[in-house]
Amino acid sequence: MATALRTIPPRPVIERLDPAEKSRLQEEVRALARERDAVILAHNYQLPQIQEVADFVGDSLELSRKAAATDAAVIAFCGVHFMAETASILCRDKKVLLPDLGAGCSLAESITAEELRAWKRKHPGAIVVMYVNTSAEVKAESDYCCTSSNAVQVVEHVRREHGDDVEILFGPDMWLGAYVERMTGRKMHVWTGECHVHAGIRPQDIARVRAEHPEAEFLIHPECGCSTQVMEYAACGDVDPERTFMLSTSGMIRHARESKAREFVVATETGLLYGLEKANPGKRFYPANPDAICPYMKMITLRKLRDTLRDLAPEVRVPDDIAERARVPIERMVAIGR
Ligand code: 13P
Ligand code: SF4
Repeated sequence: MATALRTIPPRPVIERLDPAEKSRLQEEVRALARERDAVILAHNYQLPQIQEVADFVGDSLELSRKAAATDAAVIAFCGVHFMAETASILCRDKKVLLPDLGAGCSLAESITAEELRAWKRKHPGAIVVMYVNTSAEVKAESDYCCTSSNAVQVVEHVRREHGDDVEILFGPDMWLGAYVERMTGRKMHVWTGECHVHAGIRPQDIARVRAEHPEAEFLIHPECGCSTQVMEYAACGDVDPERTFMLSTSGMIRHARESKAREFVVATETGLLYGLEKANPGKRFYPANPDAICPYMKMITLRKLRDTLRDLAPEVRVPDDIAERARVPIERMVAIGR
């Protein structure tokens, strides 16, 4: 059983702007960013109007790396709270802004630092690998962080460094955990958390959309509630494993660019379709579930980004003692895999 949602996620509200207002706001944002010496980092799920003004758009791992490498004085983070915390941990001398502090994450909420401490007490000596979708306090209790693009490599690294028999506590995403177990052939203790957006993409949605587009390749995010089932189907031949790819958000964009296929069914948050289409003119992308919209990602609007750069607030600042401990697993994550 998955961990029950701690708070009911809000319904997605999408900022709609007419073209004139959009370009006026975008000009204001760019001018303010220059004035404030700010770099704008945006996650692949952000609204198109945000992606268009960002200096860099990417997946969680790429954004952590960009934050760590920037020499700008200010980082305006267009993503969710744990991502801005990660930037604050990696860049202590920078001001990290998040245009809406309410932009949380149902997955990050599914484990608290107190719960992790209790789990560790039950498994003394275990190595803790936590998906980057966790609070800074949880990271401070972890040995390694990982993202969807390097989770397998991180667990393989742990095995090499600590031996095949070491116990691994993996969380909070149980689907990513199941995927990593399958890919590494290694059992772990896996926390039963999940993302409500990806869990809402069900096997029947996928079966229907794939049947409508039989020529399409199938791109699936390892957080999807149906991912383990899809792997079972692939293993027993019900799903063509040659045309099924388990990828991070930026991994999907890279894959679609390099693939000879013209059509793709995409099982992740629908915000990614903008980046996929932009990078691949002429190719067609079909969402496995068009309602898979992250309400937290959509809280970042162009108006709020403009106000944030103008006011240099709200700021996300992880306290020193937590940042110092959380930095260790994040730096290990940034160093492993692509
Ligand atoms: P990526 O690391 O693949 O960008 O995923 C982040 C995320 O929040 C998925 O929901
Ligand atoms: Fe969190 Fe899911 Fe939104 Fe990603 S899509 S930020 S995991 S709630």
